[in-house]
Amino acid sequence: VKRLQAAGFEGVCGHSALQEFSVSNSASFWAAAARQRLNWISPFHTTQDCDLSRGEIKWFEGGKLNVSVNCLDRHVHTCPERVALIWERDEPGSEVKITYRQLLEMTCRLGNMLRRRGVRKGDCVTIYMPPCPLAVASMLACARIGAAHNVVFAGFSAEALAERIRDAQSSTVITVNQGVRGGKVTELKKAVDTALQSCPTVQQVFVAMRTENPVAMTARDIVMEEYVFNYSDGDVFGCVADIGWITGHSYSVYGPLANGGTTVLFESTPIYPDPGRYWEMVQRLKINQFYGAPTALRLLLKYGDQWVHKYDRSTLKTLGSVGEPINTEAWEWYHRVVGDGRCPVVDTWWQTETGGICITPRPSEPDAEIVPGMAMRPFFGIEPVLMDTEGKVLTSNDTSGALCIAQPWPGMARTIHNDHQRFTETYCQPYPGYFFTGDGAYRSKEGYYQITGRLDDVINVSGHRIGTAEIEDNQYSAVAESAIIGYPHNIKGQGVYAFVVLKKGVNAQEEELSRQLNNMVSKKIAKYACPDFIQFVHRLPKTRSGKIMRRVLRKVVEQDLNGLGDLSTLDDPAAVEEIIQEKKIGQ
Ligand code: PRX
Repeated sequence: VKRLQAAGFEGVCGHSALQEFSVSNSASFWAAAARQRLNWISPFHTTQDCDLSRGEIKWFEGGKLNVSVNCLDRHVHTCPERVALIWERDEPGSEVKITYRQLLEMTCRLGNMLRRRGVRKGDCVTIYMPPCPLAVASMLACARIGAAHNVVFAGFSAEALAERIRDAQSSTVITVNQGVRGGKVTELKKAVDTALQSCPTVQQVFVAMRTENPVAMTARDIVMEEYVFNYSDGDVFGCVADIGWITGHSYSVYGPLANGGTTVLFESTPIYPDPGRYWEMVQRLKINQFYGAPTALRLLLKYGDQWVHKYDRSTLKTLGSVGEPINTEAWEWYHRVVGDGRCPVVDTWWQTETGGICITPRPSEPDAEIVPGMAMRPFFGIEPVLMDTEGKVLTSNDTSGALCIAQPWPGMARTIHNDHQRFTETYCQPYPGYFFTGDGAYRSKEGYYQITGRLDDVINVSGHRIGTAEIEDNQYSAVAESAIIGYPHNIKGQGVYAFVVLKKGVNAQEEELSRQLNNMVSKKIAKYACPDFIQFVHRLPKTRSGKIMRRVLRKVVEQDLNGLGDLSTLDDPAAVEEIIQEKKIGQ
């Protein structure tokens, strides 16, 4: 806020006033922020020229900048030995630190290599690598030479990779020989070889060596070198998302580096080698901001507080949550146990399409209230609105509706690659003149926002609409986490099927537990929301980024086992098998 105020808003005091200013004077706010926070090669002449109803979004026309220069060169001028990346490798205690100077060197070398090998401005390079310095340097090298990068999550199968390479029409792929995660080796180069059988555009594959194991090479493969590492003190931002997802892009790579921070690249899992991994890492790397997903927190709280207490977390200042609604119990645990009650928890709402955080508590504001499980208030430049089912703006508080954003902001998606029509249909046409997020939200009496979940995660039981997250958000002490799925029911329209994971050490009778759970839902929400079936499971099928794969659960409940689809992004496919064996319907 101080920096923004220094950019020409001296008269505007405090977060709230600045937020209001950023919405009512959007163009001058973003123009000043862009001039003050970024280095431009040539200045822009028009700040914004946007028409949401036609899906035409133009920001900073006439302006030219290089994002890799903004992330690297300007920091190398002022603090070359500051640590830019901390690569938290799979084996705890084997972290590697890379300074801004080293990262710039790696990026320039890679950029030159790509250019020498024919990659040109406007080309799209596919990067299929786990989080590691070379992956970040590859992203920045592409940005440096004007190529687009298509970072494919390293958990995706060969088939899913092939589809993305074809869509991007890449002629170049960058990968590693093998990945390492949770103590297991994954065959990434082999997956590339398989994928390329159906990708005729690819002419060259750069292969970095993550492990020492040789892998089969072909004529189009080029082995990359590895680099020397160094150490220096700095501020440490610990975003544990994979770089293959938007959170990794915005908050592990571009955001921290553009701000000259030190960023952690987390290669491992929250429970490898044990459930203390995150907090041991916080202690060892002296992490100041920890940013993770509610699903990991729910998993960890199941193992008990002792894993957290074991480690010194005094460096932590702020705890962030992202990606899905955080239930009250997980929020409280994060705040009370992980943060010792002294670190604000920011439940940040945003999505791939928004580029960065849009609704979030603002803890730097003195005395700012934070309500557990609420994303709270719009961030700079964001004007949220709630819509009713007829497409009318809901103006009152204490109301729920479809979440839209009333005016454009610079980080928003401007199109879908090769399919602008789909972009306008999905985001601009449902509520003409507004950007539609696909999420539902509640605005409290005080005007605070709470995200209730994807609108397609809403079920309709006997004419009552309810977000599955609301049923899942129970505080029953025996339950670690749950997933609620709607299934076709010939009387109620949809029935409620609950998958429930109990906390370790709970071994009460299932029947008794079901009765208690039903009582609680009935008391907290209503009788109609009570699950028709409760299936106690050891774990839920999750993607490697930790999202529950509801689509798979839905298919299992609907007994459509042929329709399970691509399971390659599952962290552990055995979880699905277990659930199928024990399912309650149709037995
Ligand atoms: O439904 C919202 C949920 O995640 C969706 C966006 O997913 P993705 O594009 O993969 O980006 C994830 C990282 C931002 C949203 O449409 N979501 C994200 N953050 C929250 C959330 N739901 C509730 N609370 C949040 N804080």
